Amino acid sequence: MALRLWLAHFALTGGSILSPPRWRRLATGSIRPAGWLQTQMQLQASALTSHLPLFWDNVRNTSWLGGNADNVGGIHESTPYWLNGAVPLALQLQDEDLLQTVEKYIEGILDRQTQEGWLGPDTDKTDFWSRYPFLMAMVQYHEALPGGPRRKRIEEAALGFFSAMRRRLEGGVPLTVWSSFRTHDLIWTIHYFLDVLQESAEPSVLRDLAAFAARLHSQGFDWTGLWYNASSFAKEAVVNTSMQTHGVNNAQAVKSGVVWSRQSGNAPAGWAETWLAWEQLQRYHGQPNGAFSADEHLAGRMPSRGTELCVVVESMWSLALASQLAPGDEEAVLALDALESLAFNALPGSLSEDLWSHPYLQFANSYEAVSNEPDHIWGHDGDQSAMYGLAPNYECCTSNFHQGYPKFAGSLFFEDLGQQQLISAVWAPSVVNATVGRAHVELRTSYPFNSSVEYWIRNDEPFTLKVRIPKFLRTSTSTRFVRVDGHTVKAEETAGFLHLSIPAAAERLAVKIDFVMAPSVQRSEAQGVSVYFGPLLLALDLNEQWQLVQRYTFNAADWNTTAALAWRLAMPHSPRLGTPRLSMPGPRPMASSDCPVALEATLLAVPPSAWPIQHGAPGPVNGTCRAGEQVQRTLLAYGCTSIRISALPVAEEEPLIV
Ligand SMILES: *[C@@H]1O[C@H](CO)[C@@H](O)[C@H](O)[C@H]1NC(C)=O
Ligand SMILES: *[C@@H]1O[C@H](CO)[C@@H](O)[C@H](O)[C@H]1NC(C)=O
Ligand SMILES: *[C@@H]1O[C@H](CO)[C@@H](O)[C@H](O)[C@H]1NC(C)=O
Ligand SMILES: *[C@@H]1O[C@H](CO)[C@@H](O)[C@H](O)[C@H]1NC(C)=O
Ligand SMILES: *[C@@H]1O[C@H](CO)[C@@H](O)[C@H](O)[C@H]1NC(C)=O
Ligand SMILES: *[C@@H]1O[C@H](CO)[C@@H](O)[C@H](O)[C@H]1NC(C)=O
Ligand SMILES: *[C@@H]1O[C@H](CO)[C@@H](O)[C@H](O)[C@H]1NC(C)=O
Repeated sequence: MALRLWLAHFALTGGSILSPPRWRRLATGSIRPAGWLQTQMQLQASALTSHLPLFWDNVRNTSWLGGNADNVGGIHESTPYWLNGAVPLALQLQDEDLLQTVEKYIEGILDRQTQEGWLGPDTDKTDFWSRYPFLMAMVQYHEALPGGPRRKRIEEAALGFFSAMRRRLEGGVPLTVWSSFRTHDLIWTIHYFLDVLQESAEPSVLRDLAAFAARLHSQGFDWTGLWYNASSFAKEAVVNTSMQTHGVNNAQAVKSGVVWSRQSGNAPAGWAETWLAWEQLQRYHGQPNGAFSADEHLAGRMPSRGTELCVVVESMWSLALASQLAPGDEEAVLALDALESLAFNALPGSLSEDLWSHPYLQFANSYEAVSNEPDHIWGHDGDQSAMYGLAPNYECCTSNFHQGYPKFAGSLFFEDLGQQQLISAVWAPSVVNATVGRAHVELRTSYPFNSSVEYWIRNDEPFTLKVRIPKFLRTSTSTRFVRVDGHTVKAEETAGFLHLSIPAAAERLAVKIDFVMAPSVQRSEAQGVSVYFGPLLLALDLNEQWQLVQRYTFNAADWNTTAALAWRLAMPHSPRLGTPRLSMPGPRPMASSDCPVALEATLLAVPPSAWPIQHGAPGPVNGTCRAGEQVQRTLLAYGCTSIRISALPVAEEEPLIV
């Protein structure tokens, strides 16, 4: 059915197989992190990303290179996951050692491609899934390569694998479990190679590729019809689990609509599916840190329920694609708001400050994260899931988290060649070489830890700089004064973006935007009160203590993290917040002892009976709770904390102030 529909579309569009994306992705490596983002990504590179191949068997002795590891349960995903993040990280940081390492893996894997075209281990004919992240790594590597034989080799390897997989499917091998529920990751890579080969390949090759993508789309799980738009969609924490209640599957599925829309030719319909998915996940499972809860499976809105780290990075990648492929600015801006919240809150909130450890699950509210929690509140994961460690609970996030920052950095800018626009999608310190205007643009800022952004630009031709205004700054009045080439100009905000004309000129401070960031208090029925500062969620500093549980090689270790300060505090009816203290991000930008944002708050102590513990976690915060004396406490950026309270109950009544 889908195949027939697609063929009709193909005929109508006169042979151009995919509709062009509204925005163009910049090749991996053209956008480089700077400032605190570069510091954070260098920490990542010098920690696990470059060390996993030295000591972690799933990468060091990977079955992808003939070793005997990386084959848990017949799945071989660790090395592909790692490459999917290590490749862009090496390219964006220009880290020669890491680049050599990833090249060795990629070349070694390609050397082992079989006659059939199969890539990687082949222990179970149905494990198509582990190839998807490997192909994504190849796409990013290919994007960065200049023309030539290495680039050609990747194209041929990808085509060879696609036809091997197609023949297996046609021969009756079923598309099952992960391979079926995550098909749009693979379709995205097929589309990439279709674009690349558009000019050079035989039309029949292109048609076969498109038909293969259509087969995957129709054989894969129908996420919209059978889940997001069905009455069976989970509206609270899941008890009966299935593939469609699985958190990471959902995070990946968000991209399905927009990815397929390039082939269906219907961008609005694709967006409607993608956004329905994200809205459903947020409405029933959304958390104050921008993620949705999924302690393996969807887990409702209680802030003590967990979110797997893989859910965070996969959601970010889906949302980046959603913004790029959205039908218009009104839609793109929504996806970027969601991406920004995850990148500045949930992502650092699930990584240690040195990026050597992570918990399997993070929590908006928790007071400890220890190696063994038999009586736990999370639904379907093991006793170790909250602990910060090398591979707590399960090993997927140890290898999959690497893509978080690099793919975020790769989504800070997009281009629209037709309109000669460079789109500044999310503010974070970075440098980009754009095609439009032949421009070199430095975005100098320490946003979200500062309230000023500067674009230093050198450009040979005029272009339009299209700047997304973050959600917390968007107003209905929609005019804004910005400095362009030294003059104050009044800029109209249209659908969340400012459009600024940049004349050709040598390097200068071309655009400066100053704004006000003030704390805001948001209240919800299910989640009590959360305090935000710009895009940053703030969380109660518990003076967390780290005790070593086990050390592995290098700096890899497991930790118990416990609170040295009371966590039972309520927000008064009229919040009393101090003035935020901002400091330049340091050598560990997300350290709790050196957090770039801190805010004093007057809170009210809650007796244990009024806020009981529930299965080793803070109980619900919906409704009001009895509270006593005033306490001065510090709130930090959520990303600077590892255990924290970020959703506070509201005090039942004000104490007498004497
Ligand atoms: C931009 O291009 C210049 C000149 O080719 C090069 O030196 C620089 O490394 C490039 N920067 C980025 C971010 O690609
Ligand atoms: C992994 O490789 C190293 C070095 O080749 C070897 O010493 C070690 O025993 C291997 N581990 C496994 C589980 O095979
Ligand atoms: C879970 O499944 C069982 C058996 O199919 C059913 O009886 C029960 O109502 C389901 N529970 C929920 C919460 O959906
Ligand atoms: C969901 O279903 C309704 C009712 O059938 C339909 O009108 C709507 O277009 C569907 N939404 C999506 C995103 O497919
Ligand atoms: C508060 O949340 C808990 C756990 O999510 C739920 O069981 C309870 O019904 C909620 N209570 C109210 C008053 O909403
Ligand atoms: C870590 O926490 C677990 C669970 O509370 C406990 O059994 C263990 O002794 C702790 N280890 C250290 C080193 O603190
Ligand atoms: C914020 O940015 C401005 C302009 O670059 C700079 O002067 C100031 O020191 C920064 N403040 C902090 C706290 O980073």
